[in-house]
Amino acid sequence: MGPRVVAGTGNPALAAAVTAALGCEPVPCEPRRSPDGEREPVVGPVRGGDVYVVQPTGPPVGEHLVELLLLVDACRRAGAARITAVVPYFGYARQDRRSRPGAPVGARVALDALVSAGAQRLVVVDPHTVGLEATSGVPVEMPTAVPVLAAALRPALPAGAVVVAPDLGAVKLAERYASSLGGPVAVVRKQRVSAEEVRAGELVGDVAGRAAVVVDDMISTGATVEAAVRVLAGRGALGGITVAATHALLVGDAGARLAAAGVRRLVVADTLPAPAAPGVALERCSVAGVLADAIGRLHRDEELGDPAGRP
Ligand code: R5P
Repeated sequence: MGPRVVAGTGNPALAAAVTAALGCEPVPCEPRRSPDGEREPVVGPVRGGDVYVVQPTGPPVGEHLVELLLLVDACRRAGAARITAVVPYFGYARQDRRSRPGAPVGARVALDALVSAGAQRLVVVDPHTVGLEATSGVPVEMPTAVPVLAAALRPALPAGAVVVAPDLGAVKLAERYASSLGGPVAVVRKQRVSAEEVRAGELVGDVAGRAAVVVDDMISTGATVEAAVRVLAGRGALGGITVAATHALLVGDAGARLAAAGVRRLVVADTLPAPAAPGVALERCSVAGVLADAIGRLHRDEELGDPAGRP
């Protein structure tokens, strides 16, 4: 028997593309909901199966996380032999430590809940931190969208373009892009003022007269990229900045915010449903092949390569 794919409602189009790439039919799943809002997803037969529950936990994060937990629990109670949670975008990953006294560690809570529901391992695309596995009691495989996004960026990127990390946390990611695209790396120092506002500090690297591509694992409000783009403009980078990110949440008016800052091209993966980005040329690249490859390998008990997702 091949892998059995169960899809939540977090990104049905991606789940369908993954099952198509695997050449299998999804397990029927009825996304029931009570009149009071409780979810009660009902899965079809999975007894004895090697089950992969595909569900990103993007906005509304709590809703999608609870649905994922319930799907995993339903598969366990229905007799699945092995359950892997395939979470293309893992919400709460940024809460990998207490951000201030009195704050929770949301990543730990979400992971513990998943394991307690019955998940025996996880697959997460480009998590906010590769330290996610250290927070988890089960293996976390981390395939990456970088080769897919870099391939989309490459044809239209001027020679000598500089790859820019918009904060220190994105340096490793920027190095991955740079090794695939060629070109130097620059880094912007960032200080977060609030959930929707960041202050960009100095820039390390030379961007004057160069095209720039800003890379990040995720774009939420757009504040981080906006601040980096303004620093680049002030340092003489060529206009019409390109941005690449794996997870495009683009909450609120993030798309318009990026356009106003001078972002012209936005290349993202399809880990989440298509966001709105008025004024920006948005290109979505599918990670269905990446996830199907990961699921196929896990099903055959093969290695995925570097667990930290380095290409
Ligand atoms: C933070 O360290 C992340 O890597 C992203 O830079 C951040 O979460 C993006 O959020 P926003 O778009 O709201 O600035």
